[in-house]
Amino acid sequence: MNKKQPARLAVLISGNGSNLQVVLDACAAGELAAQVVVVVSNNADAFGLERARKVQVPAEIKVKQRAQDRRAYDAELAKVVLDYHPDWVILAGWMRILSSEFLESFPGRVINLHPALPGTFPGTHAIERAYDAYQHGQIEHTGVMVHLVPDEGVDCGPVLAQQVVPILPQDTLEALEGRIHGVEHHLIIEALASVLQSTSLSFSEK
Ligand code: GRF
Repeated sequence: MNKKQPARLAVLISGNGSNLQVVLDACAAGELAAQVVVVVSNNADAFGLERARKVQVPAEIKVKQRAQDRRAYDAELAKVVLDYHPDWVILAGWMRILSSEFLESFPGRVINLHPALPGTFPGTHAIERAYDAYQHGQIEHTGVMVHLVPDEGVDCGPVLAQQVVPILPQDTLEALEGRIHGVEHHLIIEALASVLQSTSLSFSEK
């Protein structure tokens, strides 16, 4: 990584891509010293692909075939991403668990966004499960975290940023989802800015 060059981000998505959008916007606005060099989706219909194309960012589709071995898919996915020489791989609404066949190509360089606090509600439907837990009096709040993905653990790994999100008695699930997405949209930028700054500092100190 050259500290004078913007960091190269590969963003992996599966759907809407609202978090991808805030990353694209923050790069364009100079809030992040970075550029998105590729967006990869495992879903050909992901709206996030349109968001990438709209700003002339390469949009790659890599769908896992039913009969394909998960690790073979991950190895192929890594090749697609490696072609763009990213400094960081950002999982922003990427709905597949990545095996070491992918992760070993990007050691210490994969960052995940998860709509729950560390150690809570790993996996899919985290917001719905938090909402249900609140209705059953099991939790008082939920949250959002951004963390490194060092291994095959699901939604765990060194935490880069986290924020509590309150759940209110009158909340519908949709209201809670909206509040969580709002927090995600600033926490992902805050976490990336901090990581990019610290890696650029440590690089320049060498
Ligand atoms: C986000 O809540 C993300 O944390 C979760 O999936 C959602 C994706 O939203 N894993 P978007 O595609 O970025 O709009």
